[in-house]
Amino acid sequence: MNNFSNILVTGGCGFIGANFIKYLFKEENFQGRVINLDCLTYSGNPENLSEITLQYPNRYIFEKLDINDFENVYKTVESNNVDLIVHFAAESHVDRSIHGPGQFVQTNIVGTFSLLEVVRKLDSMGRKIRFHHVSTDEVFGSLGSSGKFLETTPYDPRSPYSASKASSEMLARAYAHTYGIDITISNCSNNYGPYQFPEKLIPLMICNMIEGKNLPVYGDGKNIRDWLYVDDHCAAVWMIATKGRSGNTYNVGGENEWTNIDLLNSLCELTAELTNKPKNHFKNLIKYVPDRPGHDRRYAIDCEKIKIELGWKQSVDFEQGLKKTVEWYLANKNWIEHVKSGEYKHWMEKNYGAR
Ligand code: NAD
Ligand code: DAU
Repeated sequence: MNNFSNILVTGGCGFIGANFIKYLFKEENFQGRVINLDCLTYSGNPENLSEITLQYPNRYIFEKLDINDFENVYKTVESNNVDLIVHFAAESHVDRSIHGPGQFVQTNIVGTFSLLEVVRKLDSMGRKIRFHHVSTDEVFGSLGSSGKFLETTPYDPRSPYSASKASSEMLARAYAHTYGIDITISNCSNNYGPYQFPEKLIPLMICNMIEGKNLPVYGDGKNIRDWLYVDDHCAAVWMIATKGRSGNTYNVGGENEWTNIDLLNSLCELTAELTNKPKNHFKNLIKYVPDRPGHDRRYAIDCEKIKIELGWKQSVDFEQGLKKTVEWYLANKNWIEHVKSGEYKHWMEKNYGAR
């Protein structure tokens, strides 16, 4: 098992990154420091880590930096003796990539390239750094009604988002192969849980229910996603970083497939129950809207490799995870208002009008 002293997390103010940093501070096998490098785009919120900032003033550092800023990222990695980089920072929303692919190329491809160059330069001076690249199952494309994505499934990205993630992953693989950099990669399915920006399906629907707005379902609502509670993804990333074989990719998934419409109906019932409303109260807000262009039909992950090799397994069942998630959003209306008050609000109005 690798022991790390100084972990640089990119994108630590976003949904999974913030949950990962909280996870690290609960992990008894880690007593080192965390440097959170995030440039705070619309989806990054440093408030997500305010408790960590107060509780661990000597072990937690926040650096407001863009991953594209080679010189300052280099200085940060070098001066903090970073021995592990966990790379979450990205533009992460498929719909945004359809409206504006340029930022996805800049952040996900060029930004990852710049980080890899930092590691390559330090490696050439004898400094050993493990680089864990956080990727997505979307790089594999779309499935029909049967089958699952394996680590060996050929890549077939179909949105600007997934193409940019596949490109960055290919760069990471090439750096491992050509320069011998110590790289691991994870390809995970759809995450859900606290702190997810309310543009993604589950938090968007919860927030719209709270506000009494329509619940927009793309196309026929029969597209399938495989849902995993965010803490289980964090545990998988930590296991791969500490115990995964260098140069390997690991699939991570919930083994929990839902059509969007079935998921939404359950979410409506659960939210009604938790807010003391009649069972069908929120279902009346469901509205079918035009489909997402190029909408992938089905994702499903085969995660036998990480289970067998590293002993990972999902620990939060879907009913329990959804309940925790809805309760968190109901208890954190100030957070919702805060993250929606800025650029996201204007972007939604410009691209989708009032829904
Ligand atoms: P998110 O949008 O919630 O967070 C992204 C974070 O990255 C934000 O804090 C943002 O400020 C930061 N960031 C963006 N551009 C940056 C830049 N140029 N420099 C520094 N920081 C920058 O995203 P998320 O859902 O937490 O996803 C995190 C990672 O996990 C992404 O790489 C994504 O592709 C991957 N992933 C996400 C899911 C999912 O279901 N959300 C599933 C599999 C993989
Ligand atoms: O599979 C992993 C990926 O999951 C991650 O790599 C991405 O970062 C993450 O955003 C997510 O991508 P999706 O496109 O699957 O997530 P999203 O929440 O945007 O959509 C989930 C499904 O719900 C998808 O089939 C589209 C549908 N949908 C989404 C929204 C926002 C709707 O029907 N209505 C909506 O308003």
